[in-house]
Amino acid sequence: MRHYGLIGKHLSHSFSKNFFTAKFANEEIDADYSLIELEDISTIDSIIAERELSGFNVTIPYKESIIPYLDELSPEAEAVGAVNCVVIKGGRKIGHNTDITGIEATIEWLDKSGALILGTGGASKAVQYVCKKHNIPFSIVSRDDKRGDYTYDTLTAEVIANHKLIINATPVGMSPLVEEAPALPYDAITDKHCVFDLVYNPAKSMLLSRAEEQGATTMNGMLMLQTQAIASWHTWQRAERELTEQTLVN
Ligand SMILES: NC(=O)c1ccc[n+]([C@@H]2O[C@H](COP(=O)([O-])OP(=O)(O)OC[C@H]3O[C@@H](n4cnc5c(N)ncnc54)[C@H](OP(=O)(O)O)[C@@H]3O)[C@@H](O)[C@H]2O)c1
Repeated sequence: MRHYGLIGKHLSHSFSKNFFTAKFANEEIDADYSLIELEDISTIDSIIAERELSGFNVTIPYKESIIPYLDELSPEAEAVGAVNCVVIKGGRKIGHNTDITGIEATIEWLDKSGALILGTGGASKAVQYVCKKHNIPFSIVSRDDKRGDYTYDTLTAEVIANHKLIINATPVGMSPLVEEAPALPYDAITDKHCVFDLVYNPAKSMLLSRAEEQGATTMNGMLMLQTQAIASWHTWQRAERELTEQTLVN
């Protein structure tokens, strides 16, 4: 049996475990997926050995701090500076970023004329990478004027009018603080706007409710979450195939 898992700090409500457990059962794949809570990422090597992991996902707060413990990064993970999927291949740990695939799958359906990205953390960096890759002009909103192009109190109706795609890459509005929403001039949002909230719990955040009231097209983070999980599985499968081919050649 092959072993996979999710490394993070607090993992009590994980989509990934349910997703992979159902996938392995439905497709009769001889594998399991466990939730591995780590107090400190420096113990990662002993965890990989103990659990005989073939691959794992990484979540908050280790997507960036895991990088020094890896042997190699995919070009995309390197460019973003964050890893959410690790392949163990011939004893080497290779970091990938499949959040990118999830973001691409979501924005496929949305306006790409100009994006306003809220937040400057790891998820925001992956969104910025995707915008650059697809030639989508973007501006960044931060609470700190040194980190972004705008702070929330400088967002005018004109700024909103000039960015038809608004992407929330902050945790604002996430359960349990479901009454909260980013501080935007909501009256300026129109039916020409698309709003993508990376938050998926709740399914309809306060941001998405208020944007819908203005007539905007909305997407939550669920498609991104599902797509990154599927992309992680394909990444692990590809590594396994390559190893098998190498073994046959040798
Ligand atoms: N759907 C998916 O598959 C998926 C994947 C990854 C992440 N996510 C979600 O995306 C969100 C961000 O993830 P992350 O890992 O980038 O998180 P993070 O590093 O904790 O936060 C991202 C940024 O949000 C801003 N922020 C934090 N608290 C805020 C507050 N109270 N008010 C306003 N801004 C605040 C900060 O930027 P400034 O300090 O510059 O303002 C921070 O750098 C989370 O909700 C996460 O669950 C979803």
